[in-house]
Amino acid sequence: MTPIIEVQQVNKAFGGLRVINDCSIQVAKGSITGMIGPNGAGKSTLFNLIAGALMPDSGRVLLEGEDITALSPDARFHKGLLRTFQIAHEFSHMSALENLMMVPPDQPGETLFTTWFKPGRVRAHDAEVRRRALEVIDFIGLYHVRNELAGNLSGGQKKLLELGRTMMTDAKVVLLDEIAAGVNRTLLGDLIGNIKRLNQEMGYTFLVIEHDMDMIAQLCDPVIVLAQGSVMMEGHIDDVQNNPEVIEAYFGGSAA
Ligand SMILES: Nc1ncnc2c1ncn2[C@@H]1O[C@H](COP(=O)(O)OP(=O)(O)OP(=O)(O)O)[C@@H](O)[C@H]1O
Ligand SMILES: [Mg+2]
Repeated sequence: MTPIIEVQQVNKAFGGLRVINDCSIQVAKGSITGMIGPNGAGKSTLFNLIAGALMPDSGRVLLEGEDITALSPDARFHKGLLRTFQIAHEFSHMSALENLMMVPPDQPGETLFTTWFKPGRVRAHDAEVRRRALEVIDFIGLYHVRNELAGNLSGGQKKLLELGRTMMTDAKVVLLDEIAAGVNRTLLGDLIGNIKRLNQEMGYTFLVIEHDMDMIAQLCDPVIVLAQGSVMMEGHIDDVQNNPEVIEAYFGGSAA
C-alpha cells in the first residue's frame, strides 16, 4: 500500500479538551477511504489538521511522503490536497458555470474567495478556463443548469457543483466532510457515481467523512473508525459494522 496521506501521532487540544489523541492514519493512494465515528469524535478536526486549517500540538502530516505539517492551506492546495467548500453566499449570485470558472487551475481555493471575487462583476477569463468549466459541468451532470444562478440550485446540485470545483484544479486528494447531508436520493446517486468516476478515471484519492452508512458502504473501502480522537479500528465496512466495540461506541450499543 502506497500512502498518499499519513497522519503520524497527531495531538490536538482546544483549551483543556484533548480532541485528537495520538492519532495515526494512512490513506492509500487511489483509495476512497471512509471515516466514521460518533458525534464529537474529532473527525472534522482531523480534516482541518490534514487540510492545514488547524496546526497540531504535536505529530506530523505527510503528503506523498513529504512533511507538510508546517505548510499553509494554500500551499497544501497547490500540492493537490483539497477540501470542498460550501458555495459562499457571494457566489450564489453567479451562474453555476461562472462558479467553476472562478477556480482557475493555479488558484488556491481559499484565497480566490477574497482575491478573485469582485462584487457585481465577473472577471474576464480566458477561453481555456471556460472550455474546462464546460467539460466539468457536463461531467457532473449539471450542463442543463449551467446558466442558473448557483443560489437557485437544489442542495444536491450545489454539492455536485462543489465537487465540480475540485475538478477545475489538479487535485490528488479530496477531503469530503458530510456532503450527503440534506441531499435527495437521486442526486446522492449522482454524487456517488461522480466520486467513483473521479477516482477511477482521474485517479483522485478521497477521504470521506459520512454519517450515511449506505453511502459509506457503496463508496468506501477501507473505513476508519474514529472514537475519542484516535483510531478504534480500520477495515471493510462489513467488518466494521459487525465489530462489537464499534457497535458499542458508534451505535450506542444497538446494532445498526
Ligand atoms: N475550534 C474549536 N474550539 C473548541 N472546541 C472545538 C473546536 N472544534 C471542535 N471542537 C470540539 O472538538 C470535539 C470534536 O469535534 P469535531 O467537530 O472534530 O467532531 P466530529 O467527529 O466532526 O463530530 P460530528 O460528527 O458531530 O461532525 C468536539 O467536542 C468539539 O466541540
Ligand atoms: Mg464533523
